[in-house]
Amino acid sequence: MNYHAKFSAFGSHAPKKIVNNFDLEKVVETNDEWIRTRTGMFERHYAADDEAASDLAIHAATRAIESSDIKYKDIDLIICATVTGDNPFPSTACTLQKRLGLKGFPAFDVSAGCAGFVYAVETARQFVENGNRQNVLVVGVDVLTKITNWTDRNTCVLFGDGAGATIISRATSSDISRIIDVVIDADGSQGDLLYQAAGGSRMPASHESVDKHLHTVYMEGNKIYKNAIKSMYASSEEVLRRNHLSTTDVDWVIPHQANLRIIEGLADKMKFPMSKVIVNIEKYGNTSSATIPLAMDEAIRAKKIRRGDIILLTSFGAGLAWGSVLARY
Ligand code: UT7
Repeated sequence: MNYHAKFSAFGSHAPKKIVNNFDLEKVVETNDEWIRTRTGMFERHYAADDEAASDLAIHAATRAIESSDIKYKDIDLIICATVTGDNPFPSTACTLQKRLGLKGFPAFDVSAGCAGFVYAVETARQFVENGNRQNVLVVGVDVLTKITNWTDRNTCVLFGDGAGATIISRATSSDISRIIDVVIDADGSQGDLLYQAAGGSRMPASHESVDKHLHTVYMEGNKIYKNAIKSMYASSEEVLRRNHLSTTDVDWVIPHQANLRIIEGLADKMKFPMSKVIVNIEKYGNTSSATIPLAMDEAIRAKKIRRGDIILLTSFGAGLAWGSVLARY
């Protein structure tokens, strides 16, 4: 490693429209009590018909850049974590580069479902630590409501739309902030527990695929639930252990927001008090790769997370893919 990488700043954005549990009672056979007790969710933000991933991402990115001490022209790589980009191609990172009025450096997307942000952070970290890049714009953005099956109550109540961004920069010798270590992992053998069947080369769009809702999220919630706690615990435990730290050294855990019971189960297994776990699931639902940077941004702006705090980010999603980031903010 030639250099250290650090989180310079965060920004986030959620679309205007807010849908609560009572609104969803009018869409499928569900109720506020079930959703609250089973998931911890109450409201979510939905993108408008004409809003796509880059429309959310640009606001989050702008807020992150303007909260940092770098200028737009200092960005030298964009990595966008998404499974609901504006188009199958070009990448949403390239679209974002154009919309920011930037060029002359690479931009690409990372696909790791809800773990996308953690994967993108790890990718950015490698570029910065080896000296190849100095200021990477990393965005987690998803618009899952565009691939939601509104007749499936098992999934449609869970998702919201949002974007979160960070700048990962080279740390100077006087910086206390740095990304300490990252563990990412995957188990492709369980990919069929959470996937989108149609729209790729396996099953291109057809009248039949649309009629059967095959362009939407399919999830076996129960099996995913069990894997989520196990995997996030494993990567969190590993990243702490190999850096000779324990949970008592960590000031804040910022977990993927898929289900409050998963978050509580993870905290319990890690023996980490819930008072030090950042939770905003009641306001946003599951925004996939946006949950962690959205929660980070809110907690920083609320002055909960401060410079120098030890933070542990952990996420899990389709792939299956998961990982944990250990950092001094
Ligand atoms: O972000 C990527 C990773 N995703 C996750 O981590 C999500 C993981 N999974 C979960 O969070 C949970 O499994 C769910 C919230 C999706 C479901 O909770 P659960 O406690 O696992 O419920 P279940 O699937 O076992 O269903 C229990 C009951 C069923 O009824 P029966 O068969 O017992 O009569 C469902 O039909 O709840 C019923 N149910 C609902 N009832 C009212 C399922 N969805 C709903 C609903 N409203 N929206």
